[in-house]
Order: sequence, then structure tokens, then C-alpha cells
Amino acid sequence: MAGLVGRRDKNSAQSIRGSRIVVAIVIGILFGGIFALLYPNGFASSNHSSQFQGRRLAKSILQIGSTSCESSELVNMLKSDLADLSTKNDELKKKVRDLSKKLMAAEQKNGNAEKQVIVVGEPQKAGPFGTVKGIRTNPIVLADDTVNPRLLKILKKVAVQNELIVALANSNVKAMLEAQVTSIKKIGIPNYLVVALDNEIADFCKENDVPFYTRDPDEEIDSVAKTGGNHAVSGLKFRILREFLQLGYSVLLSDVDIVYLQNPFDHIYRDSDVESMSDGHDNMTAYGYNDVSDDPSMGWARYAHTMRIWVYNSGFFYLRPTLPAIELLDRVADRLSHPPPAWDQAVFNEELFFPSYPGYIALHASKRTMDRYMFMNSKTLFKQVRKDGNLKKLKPVIVHLNYHPDKLPRMKAVMEFYFNEKHDALEPFPDGSDW
Ligand SMILES: *[C@@H]1O[C@H](CO)[C@@H](O)[C@H](O)[C@H]1NC(C)=O
Repeated sequence: MAGLVGRRDKNSAQSIRGSRIVVAIVIGILFGGIFALLYPNGFASSNHSSQFQGRRLAKSILQIGSTSCESSELVNMLKSDLADLSTKNDELKKKVRDLSKKLMAAEQKNGNAEKQVIVVGEPQKAGPFGTVKGIRTNPIVLADDTVNPRLLKILKKVAVQNELIVALANSNVKAMLEAQVTSIKKIGIPNYLVVALDNEIADFCKENDVPFYTRDPDEEIDSVAKTGGNHAVSGLKFRILREFLQLGYSVLLSDVDIVYLQNPFDHIYRDSDVESMSDGHDNMTAYGYNDVSDDPSMGWARYAHTMRIWVYNSGFFYLRPTLPAIELLDRVADRLSHPPPAWDQAVFNEELFFPSYPGYIALHASKRTMDRYMFMNSKTLFKQVRKDGNLKKLKPVIVHLNYHPDKLPRMKAVMEFYFNEKHDALEPFPDGSDW
């Protein structure tokens, strides 16, 4: 356009006329391009009329340019053509939207994530070296208030910035729950909710002013809560958590054999679908390492490299309300509800970490291992930290007594050590258990 304006400044009548022709041609070409875009595969038979209109429109624009014809008839015709086209365009856009929705649904069924991204996202150029980052923080789901209005009411009261700690308990673990609640109150964590699996726990919560939630007694999965064995109850938590995420809340799932020493929400990164504490006992086992296996019979190729990481602890993890996080819960709950019987923590990790392979499509969830000194397991505490002058001075966010069967006395000792500065409180305990 700048060039055309410049030419007009020369005040030559001929060049004005010439530029009109150029404008007309440019507009014609532009329209051609637009139509090519709208109908990349040519016109379907039902679209013959719009093809005709398109040509007529382009032709009449050329006419304006070359003859400066301004007959009102032509103008009206053009106006109606344009109106016609823009409604057609809206319809077309809607069709494209509907189609891409259908495609997304189909792709989701196939688990074909790559094509999904092509449909959903605008393709973009990769930036310069070192600046490129893949998606790890997935969008959160649209909250669905209809899923469980009663739970929603509780969450609105208890959650802080749409997140909360959730602990499941039945009366078998009441003493540990009591110890945990003591630590929660000591630090003053407000967004802590107990899912009370029986009346005794509900009563305990009432008496101690602890927010709690009970499931509807007629719900099918709740027979598991009371009659089910340990593994069945472990499976239950994945089902119960789903509704929290569907309602749009982030959940920090907590076993009851955990002592709180700081507010965990000050130490969560919130950049991943799943953020979990590790069963690892040093940096390698917690954060991952290359474990070389050796087969001397292979001679030159005797060394094979393997990727190793100690499992995530399925008793303490933070989930953002995203589709991959919900899919993880569904996958784990589904597998635990079918034979062969499986340990929920093993299933949780297999679903998280195994990649896709022929006949299997993996979950695509982003994950983060929590700092092993801040979110500490009891092997780390009793085998390493309590014997190290510097590490002893660190105050963890939580200690999980997952590595030891004498959980309650160790929980109490941890509180003595960190809250009451009783420096020898951890001494009486052996590193491991004597079986
Ligand atoms: C081990 O990990 C911790 C974080 O948990 C980090 O602060 C420390 O520097 C790491 N140590 C080594 C030797 O890499």
C-alpha cells in the first residue's frame, strides 16, 4: 500500500487508473486465496452456488477497478453477496469447530495424542536454541459442580486457593490419624480434610473439630471401605479423589502415617500433573540414575545401560485437576478392580512411568519428584539424617513413616525431635525393623 500511495503523490491520472487495476487484481487474488483456504479440497457439490457467488464477487470487484462503474445495482448485488458469504463463512467455521471436536473425541478414544495437538493447538515455530520448552503444566479442567454438590460445599469451606490435604481413615488407623491431626494443628494447616470411612472416625473428627467428609452409605464403592482388605482400601482412594479433581480442586493425598512439620503448600511447585514424594534413600535413587548392567558373555557389548528410579510413594502425592491426573486415577482404579491382584503403589508407578509400546498406550502425565529432604521418608531419616550433624538441623516439611512397621511410636518421636527439640528422641529406634 505504501508504494501505491507514493505513486498517487505524483498526481498522474494514468497511474491512478493503473493503481486501481492493480488493487482490483490484488483483491481478486486475495479472494482467490481465501476461497482456496476455505475450500482446500475443492467445492463439494452442495457448495456450487457459493462457488458461483465467489466468482461473481471477484469478477464484479475487478469490474469496479477497471471501469469505475458505480451503478447502485452492482453495489447492492455485492452487498448481498458479501452478507451471503459471511453467513456461509460463519456456518463453515462452526462446521470446522464441530468437526475438530469430533476428531478430538475420536483421537482421545484412540489415545492418539499427537494428532490431538495438531487439531487443538496452532502450530508454532520452534524458538532459538535453548529457549524451547515442551508443555508440562497442563490446563486444569473446567469444574463440574454437578458431580458432587455435597462435597463441593465442604471443599468451598475447607480448601485454600482451591487446594487441600486429603487423608482417608477408618478406625484401624485412628491412633495414627490422631498423631497426624496433632501435627496439623500444631502448625495450623487449615485446609486439611479427613475422608471418614466409618462412624468412629467421623465421631473422632467431630469431637476434635477436624473437617471431614463421609461418603454416601449407598454408594457401591463404600462397601469396600468397611469390608475390604488393605489393598482394596488403597484402591478406593483413587476413586474418591476423582471427584475432588472433577470439582476443580488440587489434592494433596496423605496417608495417616505422616507427621507434618511445615505447611506443604509452601513447598509445592504446581508445574506438573503429579508431584510425589519418593521412596528413594539418596539422590540417585530418588531422582533417577543410569544403572549399567553387565553381561560378560557379550564381550564388546557386555554393558547395557538401564534407567532406574525408586518408586513414587502413592501415600503422599499432589495432583492438579488436569485430564492426565484424572486419567491416572482412572487407570489405577480400573486395574486395581480387576484380577490379577496388585499393589496400588506398583500400579500407580507403572501407569506413570512405562512408555507406550506395541499394544499399549501410555499415560502422558508430567511428573515431579519432591525434594527428598523436605518430603522425607523414614529410611532417609533413620539411616542418614539423624546421624548427620548438618542434616539434623534441617526441618523437613513432612516425615512419612513408610519404611517402618512401628509407625506410631516413631511418629511421636519425630514430633518430639522436631517440635520439642528433644535431641535424643530418635535414638532408641533401630535403622530398620527386626522383622
Ligand atoms: C541432593 O539433592 C538435594 C535436594 O534434595 C540437593 O540439595 C543436593 O545438592 C543434592 N546433592 C548432590 C550431591 O547432588
